Amino acid sequence: MSKSIRVKLKERSYDIIIEYNALNKASDHLNNFISNRKCFIVSDSNVFPLYGREVISAVFKASGINPDYYVFDAGEKSKNLQTVENIYHAVLKSELDRSSVIIALGGGVVGDIAGFVAATYMRGIDYIQIPTTLLSMVDSSVGGKTGVDMPEGKNLIGAFWQPKLVLIDNSVLKTLPSREVKGGLAEVIKYGVIFDLIFFDKINDNIEYINSMDAEFYSYLISSCCRLKAEIVAKDEEEHGLRAILNYGHTFGHAIEKIAGFGAYIHGEAISVGMLMAGELACQLNMMDRDQLNKIIAVLKKLDMCVKAEGITGAAMLKAMKSDKKTKRDNVCFILPRDIGNVEIISGVDRNLVIKAIKKFS
Ligand SMILES: NC(=O)c1ccc[n+]([C@@H]2O[C@H](COP(=O)([O-])OP(=O)(O)OC[C@H]3O[C@@H](n4cnc5c(N)ncnc54)[C@H](O)[C@@H]3O)[C@@H](O)[C@H]2O)c1
Ligand SMILES: [Zn+2]
Repeated sequence: MSKSIRVKLKERSYDIIIEYNALNKASDHLNNFISNRKCFIVSDSNVFPLYGREVISAVFKASGINPDYYVFDAGEKSKNLQTVENIYHAVLKSELDRSSVIIALGGGVVGDIAGFVAATYMRGIDYIQIPTTLLSMVDSSVGGKTGVDMPEGKNLIGAFWQPKLVLIDNSVLKTLPSREVKGGLAEVIKYGVIFDLIFFDKINDNIEYINSMDAEFYSYLISSCCRLKAEIVAKDEEEHGLRAILNYGHTFGHAIEKIAGFGAYIHGEAISVGMLMAGELACQLNMMDRDQLNKIIAVLKKLDMCVKAEGITGAAMLKAMKSDKKTKRDNVCFILPRDIGNVEIISGVDRNLVIKAIKKFS
């Protein structure tokens, strides 16, 4: 069954299509967007060998023109300006013009890089996201944040540039390593804690479907998250306020990633622990009942997700949080839950309480 969600951004509106085995019929979905247009596929060294051929033939069928492609080494280490420059050279060689289309086939790293190239090549050309990790299906492919890392920090160079279509085929999750699936699940649970108790409870009641990678249940999870993200992005496209609540778990999580050394914890693992640290801080501030935090911990444990960042110290975390690009004038902002389904943005928290919250989960 196919599900379609509209991201409403006036003239920049677009659809997210979620369909099991969508890649089999990708040409039908792509046809409206790329007919008679030159396309260029960007992918990584893990994803392209698995799905590249299928996407090339779908693009050829829909556009009538053979697409060129660029494949870079998989992983966050490729998310830099050098890769962007390499892709600029490749697309120039392919003679892409302002009417051409870039297709991102891969996880969040591919989507962020390809989107940034699309945003900047000839002052901006169209692009389509075909996300292949759970994280990119529920989060990074929707909302138009594109960009790359600098040696000084993650995502420091970027642009807002919305795709024309997001095409999600959740059958590709069958080849995704389980650690990456769990990382994506952290973002899924994040949506429940931020907005939606019913959604959170549905996760809690269907652990066995999640652990057994039930396709229908994943399609429900993905569409629910996309719907929530689409709603937020429509209200606050460039993160002037509301969109910031999507960073629940991320103030702590980014700091964990940074001190442990990027890669020691994958993003979703750091966010999983970060959500618990934020939950603990909320309990200490008497914002949230401890039962609620215990419920979040129980779900993460049942899904065998990361619930501790061993060896991380509070002092190092505070230092890292202060240097985060979202921190203004040393004032660290936290997204803290009041209940499951309801968060608030809080600043000016006593540092000793923050350290105590970190200690509980490190
Ligand atoms: N733009 C945004 O709004 C946004 C939001 C969240 C995260 N991000 C960014 O997303 C990135 C993380 O994304 P990610 O977790 O998808 O990482 P990723 O793109 O590195 O993918 C994780 C790994 O899985 C492999 N892979 C991908 N799909 C596969 C499949 N179907 N089968 C087998 N292997 C597969 C990849 O090659 C890679 O090794 C970070 O750079 C982060 O900053 C961006
Ligand atoms: Zn995240």
